[in-house]
Amino acid sequence: MSKPRVLIARRVFPEVVEALSARFEVATNEVDTPWAPEEFARRLAGCQGVLTTIMDRVDEALLAKAPDLKAVANIAVGLNNIDVAACTKRGIRVTNTPGVLNETTADLAWALLMAAARRIAEGDAYVRRGDWKIGFEMEANLGTDVHGATLGIIGMGRIGQAIAKRATGFDMEILYHNRSRIPEADEKRLNATRVERDDLLARSDFVLLMVPYSPAVHHLIGAVEIAKMKRTAILVNTARGGVVDDAALIEALKAGRIAGAAIDVFEGEPKLNAGYLGLRNAVLTPHVGSATRATRLAMCETAAANLTAALEGRAPPNLVNKELA
Ligand code: DGY
Repeated sequence: MSKPRVLIARRVFPEVVEALSARFEVATNEVDTPWAPEEFARRLAGCQGVLTTIMDRVDEALLAKAPDLKAVANIAVGLNNIDVAACTKRGIRVTNTPGVLNETTADLAWALLMAAARRIAEGDAYVRRGDWKIGFEMEANLGTDVHGATLGIIGMGRIGQAIAKRATGFDMEILYHNRSRIPEADEKRLNATRVERDDLLARSDFVLLMVPYSPAVHHLIGAVEIAKMKRTAILVNTARGGVVDDAALIEALKAGRIAGAAIDVFEGEPKLNAGYLGLRNAVLTPHVGSATRATRLAMCETAAANLTAALEGRAPPNLVNKELA
């Protein structure tokens, strides 16, 4: 009997391809740039399973051309590249990779917060440009204290809580805003208080976004919300592009309405609103929240395990459309 066919839409670790190849007939994207929709559909024809990244769009138009597809395993926790409802309608199981990237993404969020607070990128550029001529000028390159400050986390899921855990070591007051309250024991452990969003914006020295993307949170932070923040505050976005209105943030940073920002995710990435490039008070990274070798490998292995289970008729550990369990 011929093996089921699986497509891997981007280049992944060889050991993952090898493991999948033991069970399936596997084709991969060796060029490692996302395929255009027509090319993706052409490659997907006849496949039962696909491994996707956040750059690979799985929508109704693609699904219509993939009648054999049974499972989509996203190598990400976020699912905004996938029309889950359209998959469910067609009986296609969708999975993601929660858990394995929590700590790594929290590390990056923390690094960004620290970098923006202490102006690390600016300092690095200053040294490299040869502007460091006098030394120890009392009021040059001043940053913001992180220890003892108030951190507001919007989106207190697993990653939000992992970030809060780091903040406890810096004696920070933690405010959070979430649809539902986290268990009281976790609030106590993290010294975190649930507040309304506007209250959080007004009181926080650092506002950190960690909500999953959905149309409901599109431009959750725009000009109106930024106006509610302290002028000394720093915004950190490690959630998803589109959660922040980039144009409004750029305007606010230019006008000094807030002190700074650190951004890992952008609207329409990898294209960038060019306004960001000239801003000294913004630290920019290329969506690297989960980007350590160990974590990216764990994400790929998790996705491969999900796909294997789905195609072998077992329950995938991270099934998203639970109605298809
Ligand atoms: C995710 O898993 O959603 C991340 O953003 C990708 O690293």
